[in-house]
Amino acid sequence: MRLRADLLPHGTYSDVVLVIDVLRATTTAVTYLEHGAEALWLTASPDVALGLRAPGRVLAGERGGLPIPGFDLGNSPVQAAQNFTGRVVVMNTSNGTGAAHVAAQTGKHVFLAALTNAHAAARRARALATEEIAVVCAGTDGHVGLEDVYAAGVISEYLLAMGEFTLDDGARLALTLRRSQANPLDALRGSGHGQYLERLGLEADVQYAAGLSTSTVVPVLTPGLETPEGAL
Ligand code: MLT
Repeated sequence: MRLRADLLPHGTYSDVVLVIDVLRATTTAVTYLEHGAEALWLTASPDVALGLRAPGRVLAGERGGLPIPGFDLGNSPVQAAQNFTGRVVVMNTSNGTGAAHVAAQTGKHVFLAALTNAHAAARRARALATEEIAVVCAGTDGHVGLEDVYAAGVISEYLLAMGEFTLDDGARLALTLRRSQANPLDALRGSGHGQYLERLGLEADVQYAAGLSTSTVVPVLTPGLETPEGAL
């Protein structure tokens, strides 16, 4: 079995894909579902999300880490840790939802992963993959995100404990980074985007995102019958 880590979303995928955007889209997505959200719709643009406004739906997302005008919420996992029972959360973010759309174009099984659901995501990927597990880092505005590569290393470490894998250089880099920093919060606080969020006063989100395997929820991208055009 191949284990591959793409430090930015690119190319095509043939089997299982784990999309990572630790700060903060995939952490937030896991949290919404953990707190009762009926479904998540990851839209291709803010306009698609705005066009989907309806009773029972929450529009959530960010640009530059701040809420999108006209949306109900930003992209805070701490804010997502409220009661969303029965609500559909319509999400659009700067990088994470776009990375999910890239992966969904060719991936056979596409899941959202973060540090908070890392072990559950690794287990799910190992159970389903037949040839390759690709861990895809969203990054930030086209730049590699240290926090995402660190999470790819955490997941790679879990997978290596579950079976035999042939690693590409991306996975080797991710593992090296993970093994260089035992404390996930130190890694996140040392990342460019983590420091940016802290400057915005969002350090609680960074701390929340550093919670290692605190959740067993693994969001799967399978457009449902009612998933609208332009959303996953
Ligand atoms: C993203 O999707 O790029 C991130 O989640 C941005 C953020 O929420 O700060």
